[in-house]
Amino acid sequence: MAAVGRCASPGFKRWLSSQARAPRVCVVGSGPAGFYTAQHILKHHDLARVDIYEKLPVPFGLVRFGVAPDHPEVKNVINTFTHTARSDRCAYYGNVTVGRDVTVGELQQAYHAVVLSYGAEDNRVLGIPGENLSGVYSARAFVGWYNGLPENQDLKPDLSCETALILGHGNVALDVARILLSPLDLLRKTDITDSSLAALACSKVKRVWLVGRRGPLQVAFTIKELREMINLPGARPVLDPADFAGLGNAVKDAPRPRKRLTELMIKTASEKPGEKTVAAQVAAAAREWGLRFQRSPQEVLPTADGRRARGVRMALTQLEGSGDSAKAVPTGDVEELECGLVLSSIGYQSLPLDPAVPFDPQRGIIPNSSGRVEGAPGLYCSGWVKRGPTGVIITTMNDSFDTAQSVLEDLQAGVLDVSASREGFGAVGSILRSRGVRPVSFSDWEKIDAAEVARGKAAGKPREKIVDPEEMLQLIGH
Ligand SMILES: Cc1cc2nc3c(=O)[nH]c(=O)nc-3n(C[C@H](O)[C@H](O)[C@H](O)COP(=O)(O)OP(=O)(O)OC[C@H]3O[C@@H](n4cnc5c(N)ncnc54)[C@H](O)[C@@H]3O)c2cc1C
Ligand SMILES: NC(=O)c1ccc[n+]([C@@H]2O[C@H](COP(=O)([O-])OP(=O)(O)OC[C@H]3O[C@@H](n4cnc5c(N)ncnc54)[C@H](OP(=O)(O)O)[C@@H]3O)[C@@H](O)[C@H]2O)c1
Repeated sequence: MAAVGRCASPGFKRWLSSQARAPRVCVVGSGPAGFYTAQHILKHHDLARVDIYEKLPVPFGLVRFGVAPDHPEVKNVINTFTHTARSDRCAYYGNVTVGRDVTVGELQQAYHAVVLSYGAEDNRVLGIPGENLSGVYSARAFVGWYNGLPENQDLKPDLSCETALILGHGNVALDVARILLSPLDLLRKTDITDSSLAALACSKVKRVWLVGRRGPLQVAFTIKELREMINLPGARPVLDPADFAGLGNAVKDAPRPRKRLTELMIKTASEKPGEKTVAAQVAAAAREWGLRFQRSPQEVLPTADGRRARGVRMALTQLEGSGDSAKAVPTGDVEELECGLVLSSIGYQSLPLDPAVPFDPQRGIIPNSSGRVEGAPGLYCSGWVKRGPTGVIITTMNDSFDTAQSVLEDLQAGVLDVSASREGFGAVGSILRSRGVRPVSFSDWEKIDAAEVARGKAAGKPREKIVDPEEMLQLIGH
């Protein structure tokens, strides 16, 4: 048989349609990875049926609970996901935590293939003294709080100080800084939760430092997000020109995105308030933010009573090597940065799901080859749990198509045996019933969605998210 390329050809699709029985595929997680994997399998196999299991009653993962509320255009991918979910060969089962309500082994008994797309639900920790003091939060929890993630609704971050430190130079750090400093009138029109809006209305934070352990050439954020921050009404960028000395030349031959990003930082650092390119309202801004480089957090410093954070001691660093791979090495000098709020934005982290599933704790991923889980035939993975917690939605889409393609190839090659039929949800539904678990269907979600949109309309917002899973379940009569 001719080898099958990574792109499904029409011939491949016809072959699958004529030869295969209806393969039953199960996807764990309803974020971009879950939905894009399902979409690709359904598109390229006329008989396959895909069931998506999701731990929360509501779908879409970080598109709902991560993407910033002031980026509504990014959330348009939900329309594509909805189209997939409405296919008569696709079913959504929310309110089912795989690994707790049903094991991966039980799913493998019920389906020909199981794809794990459960994302990265934890965050990396700094591992420094003082990290657990009051006033220190992970950016992950802070994002979950303002985006209505049920588990973070009790966070109630203390915003009574004037200066916040955000540790990390990624796009999540910029999201968090922007939410802290955005004028309320901008946020009011978004789907940010009412309770976080109320807390932000009382916030005293007027200065935000984003601190990275490496230099300007190693920042992980991207130009669009930086430009948005620079143009944020009412907030003044404070960048030190000395941090960028000589970098104009250094990036001349750098890849274009890095070059443009660095040039934007250099330009912003060299502008004086009142210059034409800096808007008048920015010059007069009551709020400010800035980037600090080559500072690695060493200890969160406590107040005199030892109860909360009053600052962070930073180890100054020098770079060894150059470009993306440069390493930050402590010089031996330290500096204390005063602040009342610390947000650690050093990345998300995947967790092991089930003892039956291999997991690499060093890399924080399920070990795999093109999405095929190592040593576990019939088991696949996609998205952040496959690749690690970086990459935008498009990256996750491509990666998920790659995994879906592996599933399709294994169906064609007979690696996945579809000669015996599998019951799919027929079997899993019985297990869940016996454990008192009631799944939420996609049409149930559409009722929750309609209720949220109706609540938001009254307040001039796209939606008011329901943040209590019990309330969601009540609303659909569970
Ligand atoms: C704060 C933030 C903002 C972002 N903003 C943007 C942006 O503006 N633009 C952009 O392109 N990208 C953005 N990204 C990146 C984008 O969100 C990711 O690329 C993408 O969401 C990863 O998809 P995923 O499906 O692997 O993970 P997730 O989106 O996390 O989906 C995983 C799903 O699995 C579910 N799950 C977890 N455990 C279980 C279990 N045991 N059983 C069943 N289900 C489970 C989760 O509830 C979740 O729904 C952002 C990321 C973050 C963190
Ligand atoms: N608008 C958007 O498109 C958007 C918005 C949000 C998120 N996202 C995407 O989502 C993904 C995750 O974003 P992210 O910001 O969480 O992760 P990220 O891009 O990996 O950035 C993590 C930052 O934390 C730093 N860091 C890691 N460990 C550290 C430590 N021990 N001490 C100090 N600093 C440390 C990293 O510095 P080093 O480089 O030195 O390791 C880096 O600056 C990214 O791909 C991002 O682009 C996109």
